[in-house]
Amino acid sequence: MMERQKIILDCDPGHDDAVAIMLAANSPQIELLGVTTVAGNQTLEKTQKNACRVLQWLGRDIPVYAGCGRPMVREPRAAGDIHGETGLDGPVFPPLHKTVEPEHAVSYMIRTLLASDGDIIVVTTGPMTNLAMAMRMEPRIVEKIRRIVLMGGAYANGNVTPAAEFNVLVDAEAAHVCFTAGRPVTMVGLDVTHKVLCYPEIVERMAQVNNGASRLFVDLMRHFCKTQKEVFGMEGGPLHDPLTIASLIDPKLLTTKPMNVQIDLRSEQSYGRTNCDYYGYLGLPATADVAVDVDVPRFWDIVEDCLRRYGEEEGAT
Ligand code: RIB
Ligand code: CA
Repeated sequence: MMERQKIILDCDPGHDDAVAIMLAANSPQIELLGVTTVAGNQTLEKTQKNACRVLQWLGRDIPVYAGCGRPMVREPRAAGDIHGETGLDGPVFPPLHKTVEPEHAVSYMIRTLLASDGDIIVVTTGPMTNLAMAMRMEPRIVEKIRRIVLMGGAYANGNVTPAAEFNVLVDAEAAHVCFTAGRPVTMVGLDVTHKVLCYPEIVERMAQVNNGASRLFVDLMRHFCKTQKEVFGMEGGPLHDPLTIASLIDPKLLTTKPMNVQIDLRSEQSYGRTNCDYYGYLGLPATADVAVDVDVPRFWDIVEDCLRRYGEEEGAT
């Protein structure tokens, strides 16, 4: 039995972030220490509430901390076209009782990492503002970060501009800080997340689990898949964020390739691009393990197994 991996999940719920929370909050391989939220898919006010809504629905008493409400340099941008006005359109949630902790997410990250034995993995599934700010505020935490696992970037096309993927585009400076910190980085980019498409038959498969968590999954996917079809013409919504967590549940899930990755901060047209030296042509040191393939059937098995582990109590609170 592999050791339980301690993680902090930094996210911008967001439908796919919500599924990442579902996996992280109920997997024997993961100890979810805390959830930190950031402005991204929607405003911080909305993403923090959404993280609380999901954990309340799942009946998981995991602390949520609100972080930065805007990128380090550029103006905020949201993804209401995908995630809706609330950031989690679709499911009907009961009245929200769970509240965020009083401590700022950046302070929480610093306090928790400093007190750790260097065994915490920081998973980011939104813009990397909180983690970058934490490293700049307290550089002593850098060596305490076991690994950074991010959903973001792409060595092929972006999904907002042709060059850039949303999480990195929103705060490219923050991504640059994280990629150049000198800690191990796993980049789970669009190149693999666009392979885990939540087709109708997958939604039906998860609906058969027939518990509170599966009902939330189905309601989330009903909206997410509809907007992904409208915006990108995809027949199934790409489950970007949970792929980060699933890669920790099964280390064989992803095939990765060490690459030198540099974030474009200067050009307007390609701002936020993760320039990945796939062939190592530049002879520069690798700065990230970039995911190049995924065992798709295994991923859906992980999702189903996780949903089955939830009981009936979810959604009632
Ligand atoms: O580009 C996809 C990423 O941007 C996902 O994390 C999605 O939730 C949005 O944050
Ligand atoms: Ca996200």
